Parts: sequence; structure tokens; C-alpha cells
Amino acid sequence: MLRKRLVAGNWKMNLTPSEAKKFVSELKGALINKDAEVLVCVPDIDITAVSEAVSGSDIKVGAQNMYFEEKGAFTGETSPLMLKDAGVCYVVIGHSERRAYFHETDEIVNKKVLKAVEQGIVPIVCVGETLDQREQGITVDLVRLQTKIALKGLTEKQVAEIVVAYEPVWAIGTGKTATSEQAEEVCAAIRNVIGEVYGKETAEKTRILYGGSVNGKNAAELFAMENIDGGLVGGASLKLEFADIVNC
Ligand code: 13P
Repeated sequence: MLRKRLVAGNWKMNLTPSEAKKFVSELKGALINKDAEVLVCVPDIDITAVSEAVSGSDIKVGAQNMYFEEKGAFTGETSPLMLKDAGVCYVVIGHSERRAYFHETDEIVNKKVLKAVEQGIVPIVCVGETLDQREQGITVDLVRLQTKIALKGLTEKQVAEIVVAYEPVWAIGTGKTATSEQAEEVCAAIRNVIGEVYGKETAEKTRILYGGSVNGKNAAELFAMENIDGGLVGGASLKLEFADIVNC
């Protein structure tokens, strides 16, 4: 497979800078897999401490959100220029928690994706359905739409370089992982819709991750699926279990 695997931790709102530093130093020693790209997406306030702590390792540092403007009167927001300068190379965009609690729409997600790409930060674009939507049978339609809107305005070359993360909302933080078949079905649908809009060759290059209760036990089976190129890991990325997920 051409696509390099990516295992990304999303710490969410956890770990202070000093806790983060300590944890990353331990994690460094526990990683043995050199084939997968390893990323930790940390709270903004931790970025500097973590960037220093990962030096000398292959662990990359990402952010969990950013604003779609570069600077100005946007109290409380973080600019892509600031993230870049602090050592960030990836940014999670449109996580379901941001969509649900901070009212991020598909259109806002699209603006952020375009700005991240313009600034050379790789967006990890999150899509996924709620339990209600799954039970209604609209998962694939919904995820196709979320993907199309999020990527609108990117070129084929840019789409080949971004990352999409399929995270079913009902699987996040619940311990209820999607089965590898369920995850594969939706990740394949995402690759298909990318292929329809940007061409098959592009779609073969875009990395698609699965997220939602990934742990040291279920990661290997999920990551073995044809259209799953790694994971976006929440809870388990705050423990040394994250190294087991990477090493598998
Ligand atoms: P959990 O791994 O804790 O379910 O969280 C998944 C997630 O939201 C990653 O972005």
C-alpha cells in the first residue's frame, strides 16, 4: 500500500504542560514501530512543552482546532500562523465535540480546512454519524455530504495530502467500537466519494483513519482493513497503551 499509516492521539482537554512533558518522555521510550507515523494532538497550551519533549523522536505534534483567520480581533482563538511557529504540522478539524458543543457547521469546517492547507498544516478532517442517524440508515449519505462540503475548494493534489477521520459519534468515549466491517464500510464510502469528486488516483492517496474507542486490543483488526490507514485515538492516547496501538 502506498499510504503511510498514521496513528494520532487526540488528548482532548487533558494534561497540563508539566503532565504532558512527563507523559511524552515515557511514551518516547515505549515506541518501537518505525513504519507508522505517530502524532499527538494536544491542547494549545501544551504545544511548546510537547514540541520540546518530542525532540530526538519521530513523534509529531498536532493541534485540536484552529481559527480560519490568520490574525486580528478574534478573542480567544488560535491562528494557523501561531500553530506553525510553535511546531505544529497537523490539526484536527471538525471533531464531533466541536460540532456539538461549539456549533461548528460543515461550512466552518470547510473554511478551516482551506486555511490549514493554505498554511501548510495538514488537516485531519473529522466526519461521522450519531446513533440516531445510524439507526435511521443515513450514515453513508451523511458522511459523503460532510466529506464533500469539508473538502470543497481543494485541488486534487491537496486532497491527496490531507487526512480524513471517520469517527462515529456513538463510538467516541463509550467503549463501543464500531466493528471492523462497519468502520471499513464507511471508510470505503469516504474513499469512493473522494474518488467521484477528485479522481480515483487522488482517492488512493488520501489517508483515512478510524476513531472511536480504539484501544490496544482492537487496533490491529481495525487497521488491517483495506480502507483504514490508522487511527485517531482519544482516551487510550493518554496512557502508555497508545504505544501498543502504534506498535501493532
Ligand atoms: P475515544 O478513543 O476516547 O473514543 O475518542 C475518540 C476520539 O474522539 C478521537 O478524536
